[in-house]
Amino acid sequence: MSLKPQPIAGDVYWVGVNDDAKELFESLWPLPFGISYNAYAVVGRDTVALIDTVDKRYTYEYIGRIREVIEDFDRVRYIVVNHLEPDHHGATPDILKVMPKAKLVTSVMGSRILSSVYRVPSDRIFIVKDGDRIDLGGKTLRFIYTPWLHWPETMVTYLEEDRVLFSCDVFGSYGSLQDGIFDDEVDMNFYIDEARRYFSNIVIKYTRNVLEALEKLKGIEMRIIAPSHGPIYRSNPNRIVELYKRWAQSASERDRVLIIYGSMYGRGESIVEYIAEKLNREGLKISLHDVSTSHPSYILSDLVEACMAVFVYPSYDAGIFPYMEDVMRLLQLKQVGRGRFAAVVNTYAWGSTAKQAVELLTKAGFKVVEPVVETKAVPDEEGLKKIEALINSVVDVLKTGTAQPQ
Ligand code: FEO
Repeated sequence: MSLKPQPIAGDVYWVGVNDDAKELFESLWPLPFGISYNAYAVVGRDTVALIDTVDKRYTYEYIGRIREVIEDFDRVRYIVVNHLEPDHHGATPDILKVMPKAKLVTSVMGSRILSSVYRVPSDRIFIVKDGDRIDLGGKTLRFIYTPWLHWPETMVTYLEEDRVLFSCDVFGSYGSLQDGIFDDEVDMNFYIDEARRYFSNIVIKYTRNVLEALEKLKGIEMRIIAPSHGPIYRSNPNRIVELYKRWAQSASERDRVLIIYGSMYGRGESIVEYIAEKLNREGLKISLHDVSTSHPSYILSDLVEACMAVFVYPSYDAGIFPYMEDVMRLLQLKQVGRGRFAAVVNTYAWGSTAKQAVELLTKAGFKVVEPVVETKAVPDEEGLKKIEALINSVVDVLKTGTAQPQ
């Protein structure tokens, strides 16, 4: 669905686009419901600033949208680059050609890495320091550095008179904007789920930086939060701020367990069912993901809400079952284990790989609970005892709260 430019405050317009064609964001993360590239135009008395642009594929749609708001492109003096990634600025080199008086407003770090992403002449770059302001004539933009959300150059832009925070990736979500652009126009249950998935796929590695940024933004009144993906928060901006704080603090529910498993012939599934049933009887909330059929994007997202992940998998060619190893390596890359526990059940016919799994999970930040179970593909009495002992440990850790993840 194509939307028209829409005012989000006086002389401030949403001029973004929907992308319902892309199947994988960053060629990694599924987009079954598309994504929006939100961009904004702030029209001052003297000059106009554009806040970010869009993916290159939508250059002409974006230009058409700007044209509906501003007839004279010479009035555009600034294109704010909150974050360089091409979903926000793929179109920018072409936009600079049709807006000859515009300069790219970027952080110091942004100016250093801009040329490695786009070919832009240096006289088209305008560097701002943390806290700098630009007055457009009755509209003042303040630039606030928020590094590592999720690149080193990232910043957010605050429109002082209207109390609007243009937050780029921060507070963003997957899902194109089909029914409207504001949080009071769309199904927020859907977008909050997709915001958590976006957070877990894109931002989660930088949780410390998220918390630092939230602290920095504490004193700023945010009447509207306008991210670069997903709905604009005007009815309840605090909701997404609080969720970000919770997600970044790994403040997951202590009774929620994610069982991530692989099973070549269905025998591992019997072990999973056994563990799930026992944990369920203890009042714990269980979610299951089969690594052969669940995309890691959704495993990451569910992990945000879980305090414990139980990994059940077979050895394969003297290594970890490949899809399981992929998931574990991704968890390591994203450092998702911080503040969480892991339990391991490795089944094998002739070679255990539990040590390798424990190493990967420890590197991912998990605290691995004992005992680590290595058992025959069809567990014998000893194997069943170990599984039972592990179930008791998981319950103990979660219910008594005696152990805390680091
Ligand atoms: Fe929306 Fe970091 O890209």
